[in-house]
Amino acid sequence: MKRACVIGWPVEHSRSPLIHRYWLKQYGIDGAYEKEAVSPKELAQFLGSLKQRGYVGCNVTLPHKEAALQAAEVAEEAARVIGAANTLWLDDSGRLNAGNTDAYGFITNLDAAAPSWNEEVRPVMVLGAGGAARAIVHGLLAEGAGRIVLANRTRGRADALAGAFGPSVTAVDWQKRGSALAGCGLLVNATSLGMTGKDALDLDLAELPPDAVVADIVYSPLETELLAAARARGNRTVDGLGMLLYQAVPGFERWFGVRPEVSPGLRDHIAASLGEG
Ligand SMILES: NC(=O)c1ccc[n+]([C@@H]2O[C@H](COP(=O)([O-])OP(=O)(O)OC[C@H]3O[C@@H](n4cnc5c(N)ncnc54)[C@H](OP(=O)(O)O)[C@@H]3O)[C@@H](O)[C@H]2O)c1
Repeated sequence: MKRACVIGWPVEHSRSPLIHRYWLKQYGIDGAYEKEAVSPKELAQFLGSLKQRGYVGCNVTLPHKEAALQAAEVAEEAARVIGAANTLWLDDSGRLNAGNTDAYGFITNLDAAAPSWNEEVRPVMVLGAGGAARAIVHGLLAEGAGRIVLANRTRGRADALAGAFGPSVTAVDWQKRGSALAGCGLLVNATSLGMTGKDALDLDLAELPPDAVVADIVYSPLETELLAAARARGNRTVDGLGMLLYQAVPGFERWFGVRPEVSPGLRDHIAASLGEG
């Protein structure tokens, strides 16, 4: 029986077991997916003994994403560029491989939920400059986004992120996040603002073109205030749950040998666990 897990500290909140167990059952695979609470002190030892613990690989959540990349012997390009890993697997030679599927998850969901979002070449506004924003910028550039504007509360982090990706990514002050929406074809919230229990995202959408797409990567609540406001003024919206589901696809395929489908049934199953639907 093949076994995989998610490691984090804390790990209790992770939805990954629900997603992977749903697929294991759907495809009739003799496998298991566990939760492992691993402290930063234990990480190196845990990853070094993955095989002895009976695992073929794992997902990695906070705070281990950067350290997991460092611990891996082989890293895919996306993980190297993003500087963090969320998916690990042992290859046939027993080497620990690292990947980052957040960019894949974000773009695949965007393509599915808002086809032709990139038909016209227009600037993209990304709010945030943390790990998720970095993955999204990488994914958008790989998709041919011509210009990305970053706004982040801490301006220095936005400048650093823009600097890492070259001249097509620029930063503006957080206070200018509303006015900088003029002419944008896509707005992405990659901050934690708007999440249940966090501060609201205070953003005036008046300058955003009515045919722009608005994506929020926060998935609890499923319809954030940002998405509700965007929908009310006629913008197409993309919620964060799809990204969470699609980012899980490559790991499942690596560990269990089947490329799983992100189906409405899976979406309903995870939405119900969030108290939605
Ligand atoms: N849907 C998915 O699959 C998916 C995947 C990954 C992450 N996420 C979600 O995306 C969010 C960001 O994740 P992350 O890993 O990038 O986290 P992170 O590295 O901690 O970054 C957090 C971001 O939110 C900003 N922020 C936090 N509190 C703020 C406040 N009060 N006012 C203004 N900005 C604030 C931070 O700005 P500063 O730089 O100024 O602190 C930073 O840009 C989380 O809610 C996470 O759950 C969703």
